[in-house]
Amino acid sequence: MARPDLEVDVGGGLRLANPVLTASGTFGYGLEHDGIGDVAELGGICSKGLSLAPREGNPPERIAETAAGMLNAIGLANVGVDAFVREKVPALRERRATVIANVFATSVEDFRELARRLDGVEGVHALELNVSCPNVAHGGLEFGVDPKACGAVTRAVRDTTRLPIWVKLSPEASDSVAVARACLDNGADAVSAINTIRGMSVDARTGRIRLANRTGGLSGPAIKPIALRIVWEVHRKLPELPVIGIGGISTVEDAIEMLRVGARAVQVGTASFVDPRAAWNVLDGLRAFCVAQRTTARELVGTAW
Ligand SMILES: Cc1cc2nc3c(=O)[nH]c(=O)nc-3n(C[C@H](O)[C@H](O)[C@H](O)COP(=O)(O)O)c2cc1C
Repeated sequence: MARPDLEVDVGGGLRLANPVLTASGTFGYGLEHDGIGDVAELGGICSKGLSLAPREGNPPERIAETAAGMLNAIGLANVGVDAFVREKVPALRERRATVIANVFATSVEDFRELARRLDGVEGVHALELNVSCPNVAHGGLEFGVDPKACGAVTRAVRDTTRLPIWVKLSPEASDSVAVARACLDNGADAVSAINTIRGMSVDARTGRIRLANRTGGLSGPAIKPIALRIVWEVHRKLPELPVIGIGGISTVEDAIEMLRVGARAVQVGTASFVDPRAAWNVLDGLRAFCVAQRTTARELVGTAW
């Protein structure tokens, strides 16, 4: 097949070969898919959320299936930033992956320290600040729903690293545009939208609440309309700020819809649990679409009317 132009500029000097990435927490550290697909073909992979110290996460049950998606309350189980740099990044570099390190902390100071430890690490191409996790007691949503707090985190990281910074928005902020503007004003290169939305699941027969954490983050096709709306609002009000669209993307049509409302790139999340090749399938579909329509990924951005 002909090779259409899929390259996208996501700000901060970072150009991705194509706009299809995998979403944090749904693709491990990018090394678990050997034999399933070549991670170098993707626009990028976002790591599982990294904290300063390793974390065990929440006790089980940590996931529950829902009618149009899933709930998770993993609680940011991860190997810690130092083990990521030592053990995962060299292997990702060998595979020539474009790596976005997703980071999480409970204080501005710890966000700054995470940025310091990742700054200058060869093979890490951008940081994604998770200020919007609903599954931890402190520091999750508190930053993401408050423009001032979100701006302060962004500024601290901006002052610490030259890596491109993406701030991951929460759908639970009452004014996503205000949060996005605070990110932009404090040096963010892009925002990614959206993280999960709090929900819960109960067994009708026994009354048992299914997640040990009681509530969890809803993801998958159920949240796509919300994600489209938020990406569209941010793009319309802040067209200079690149947006990475996330939420319920399973097919190429979902990805194209997200580009059309203004996303410059997309992340495939929950769909990878259904089909581990989901991101590659979306990419193949986008390539075919652009050839058939004689268009490019860039030309699709913001064309919803
Ligand atoms: C099991 C699971 C773990 C996740 N872990 C993280 C995480 O560590 N950091 C983060 O920023 N987002 C995390 N997310 C959120 C996803 O990256 C994504 O924003 C969300 O699931 C919406 O996209 P989707 O509907 O395509 O799954 C997680 C989602 C799931 C389902």
